[in-house]
Amino acid sequence: MNTVKTVRELRAAVARARSEGKRIALVPTMGNLHAGHAALVTKASQRADFVVASIFVNPLQFGPSEDLDKYPRTLAADQEKLLNAGCHLLFAPTVEEMYPDGMDGQTRLHVTGVSEGLCGGSRPGHFDGVATVVCKLFNMVQPDMALFGEKDFQQLAVIRKLVRDLNLPIQIFGEATVRAEDGLALSSRNGYLTEEQRALAPVLQRTLKQLAERIRQGERDFPALLSEGCQQIEAAGLRIDYLEARESAGLRPATAQDHQLVILVAAFLGTTRLIDNLAFHID
Ligand code: PAF
Repeated sequence: MNTVKTVRELRAAVARARSEGKRIALVPTMGNLHAGHAALVTKASQRADFVVASIFVNPLQFGPSEDLDKYPRTLAADQEKLLNAGCHLLFAPTVEEMYPDGMDGQTRLHVTGVSEGLCGGSRPGHFDGVATVVCKLFNMVQPDMALFGEKDFQQLAVIRKLVRDLNLPIQIFGEATVRAEDGLALSSRNGYLTEEQRALAPVLQRTLKQLAERIRQGERDFPALLSEGCQQIEAAGLRIDYLEARESAGLRPATAQDHQLVILVAAFLGTTRLIDNLAFHID
């Protein structure tokens, strides 16, 4: 696996693979890779002939009081994991390479509708930063397909809409969340948790499962259900940012008539913000 740091080198390596008739997959990441990222790369290597991963801690998607500075940078360990998972090329640019005119000089994308509310409400500008960097990566690599984790459910919806709205010829795959044995969704931010906090975190997935089961059994009073869910999560020692039920394709607030639903949660454990979701079907 080669690691390149410039757009020029990236384009040259991808052009070589394409000239050999290879189908290209892109897996964008911010590094500090875990088994969830490795699963994306492995899936990509099954779907395509040449897998490009990117590692870039994107300052444009962090708010002023967020964890940009302390976000773990673990390039050597990440390279090893990518190689083992079947990656062919790693793009690990600097901030200057990605944003040569600086952050303020960078044109930004706003994906309408699905960017509003949920994480978009709590983290103003976050999805503009995500959409902008992902669109730049798409233009740099011009992959046939790109793979993202379903753990970031709203992000995936934003990227799907970006691709649709801008007619980008890229197939988007959302891949199942990889979880620890106790149900906690793998996330680079889990590393911030103390041992005691880590033991409390599975309440998120447990609560989502219980709520989904009650909805499947016929309960439809979403406000009452979600309020109970919030109480359960807060009783475990977390602070709720949001807990919402949405229709899963367009992320509209769920109604009793919807059949494809997703419950999404964000909560703080100390200063660490965790997110999770559960998508399900009801007849
Ligand atoms: O999900 C992430 O790690 C990031 O938001 C992404 C998609 C790599 C864009 O920076």
